[in-house]
Amino acid sequence: MLAYRHAFHAGNPADMLKHTVLVAALQLLLAKPKALSYIDTHAGAGSYRLDHGMSQRLGEYHDGIGRAWLQDQVRLALQDAPAHGLPQALVDYLRLVLQDNPDGTLRVLPGSPALAARLLRPGDAMRLFEMHPTDWRSLKASLGRRRQTTLGHADGFAGLRSLLPPPSRRALVLIDPSYELRGDYRQLLESLRDALQRFATGVYLVWYPQLQTLESRDLPRRLRGLAPGGWLDAQLTTAPPRADGFGLLGSGMFVINPPFGLQPLLEPAGRWLAQVLGRDGAGRFQLQARPS
Ligand SMILES: C[S@@+](CC[C@H](N)C(=O)[O-])C[C@H]1O[C@@H](n2cnc3c(N)ncnc32)[C@H](O)[C@@H]1O
Repeated sequence: MLAYRHAFHAGNPADMLKHTVLVAALQLLLAKPKALSYIDTHAGAGSYRLDHGMSQRLGEYHDGIGRAWLQDQVRLALQDAPAHGLPQALVDYLRLVLQDNPDGTLRVLPGSPALAARLLRPGDAMRLFEMHPTDWRSLKASLGRRRQTTLGHADGFAGLRSLLPPPSRRALVLIDPSYELRGDYRQLLESLRDALQRFATGVYLVWYPQLQTLESRDLPRRLRGLAPGGWLDAQLTTAPPRADGFGLLGSGMFVINPPFGLQPLLEPAGRWLAQVLGRDGAGRFQLQARPS
């Protein structure tokens, strides 16, 4: 039984890092005319209301996109003012968010599949998986009618295996588990190992949490060990460690086969996020990479 609902966490600092990296990587890949497949193994509900319901209960978005949205640089960038100084990757991401909030008041947050749907071209395929029945129904209602799109109310780890290699031989795969189930870390690594054997040249984006547990701390090292060629590991820390050892300190995005040009886009964006979203002096952005 899945207890995790992304709506409680939508728009938090981890979502900001994930969605900024996703949008930047997709835009770079879409600069080439050949068709691209977008595969989202843990797609969530599609979009989230920030102004009522679950998002309001924990209010995590206040520490993430809510805080970013209030910055003068963001306001100016979204008004197309010259010399706003906001890093380009954030401009590109936040302009997509603005499309869902045209009067400038933040009410709706597009999730990963909604952001991808805005960027993909009509001939690009979307393959989405979501296991939670309620979130799956929302996803189907918002994206089920898009052409070239299939939605699986199914396990995304298993679903990924059936899709690789994609007919277009070009794909971006987002793997964004909730890490709520005991087997998620193991399944992630097994599924990625299998995916790379089937399709070594795909671009894989893996979101992971920074927690004070051994499994979590060891994950980046294990991901690096799996990547056959180039990788990029972007870590955004925004909260100091708690004495009880619980709580999310930040998160990382691990990218296998990063598209050319991703690193210079992410460096200033990550530094900006660390500075604006870091609490109690904990803001830190670290980017490490191995070229292919
Ligand atoms: C972190 S949320 C996804 C958020 C979404 N990618 C976004 O950025 O907007 C993880 C989602 O995975 C779903 N989920 C958990 N295990 C799954 C599995 N094995 N296959 C597919 N979906 C799963 C959860 O119900 C949850 O909605």
